[in-house]
Amino acid sequence: MRIGILGSGVVAKTLAAGFIAHGHETMLGTRDPARLEPWLAQNPKATVGSVADAAAFGEVAVLAVKGAVAADVLRSASAAPLAGKPVIDTTNPIEDAPPAHGVLKYFTTLDDSLMERLQREFPDLRFVKAFNSVGNARMVNPQFSGGKPTMFICGNDEGAKKIVTGILDQFGWETADMGAVESARAIEPLCILWCLPGFLRQEWGHAFKLLR
Ligand SMILES: NC(=O)c1ccc[n+]([C@@H]2O[C@H](COP(=O)([O-])OP(=O)(O)OC[C@H]3O[C@@H](n4cnc5c(N)ncnc54)[C@H](OP(=O)(O)O)[C@@H]3O)[C@@H](O)[C@H]2O)c1
Repeated sequence: MRIGILGSGVVAKTLAAGFIAHGHETMLGTRDPARLEPWLAQNPKATVGSVADAAAFGEVAVLAVKGAVAADVLRSASAAPLAGKPVIDTTNPIEDAPPAHGVLKYFTTLDDSLMERLQREFPDLRFVKAFNSVGNARMVNPQFSGGKPTMFICGNDEGAKKIVTGILDQFGWETADMGAVESARAIEPLCILWCLPGFLRQEWGHAFKLLR
């Protein structure tokens, strides 16, 4: 598939390398493509363009920007080239504030998640929450002695979730579909839980698994 990644941070770069390793064509979209020249030299199969270029390029889009600017970035992409496309939403609504005893602060409440806000503003996009509840170092081909970790996903569009489940399968995850967009109220805070051992004990190498 052609994957358009909106963002150029560590998540965008990690997932881009993963998509390329798994045989997909990938374009990163950023405000400053020139800044990515050193990365492009090391990842010659990737391409880089503006946010709008990446939105138009992808059959599937990945939203990998700071949570507070997620809506702005989608506006700058102009939603039209993304209409009808699955958009993998990796973002978390983290406030610009220090964690309290390791607990991140969010600018959303338990009654309204970031992905719901985005889905309301961009009703034609098929958002699927994924990759937000694990550190970037474990996003692609995670290896654990306890077996495959679980990626919790949600979104309103069954077809989009099926495509994302296929990608997660390729990337070495088992997928737990937690329902519609409102379930992001539960999945986004998993990042708070995931980060706690890191902030408290410098342990960043874990992932979640759902046991049945
Ligand atoms: N880091 C992780 O391990 C991890 C794990 C799970 C989920 N997440 C989530 O994934 C998302 C990406 O995380 P990240 O760590 O890769 O990067 P980040 O530092 O949260 O975000 C970097 C990206 O945000 C964009 N950005 C920042 N300020 C902007 C502004 N004012 N206007 C427009 N764009 C702006 C940048 O765009 P330009 O390219 O244009 O500069 C850059 O691509 C976040 O929502 C984060 O919470 C992160």
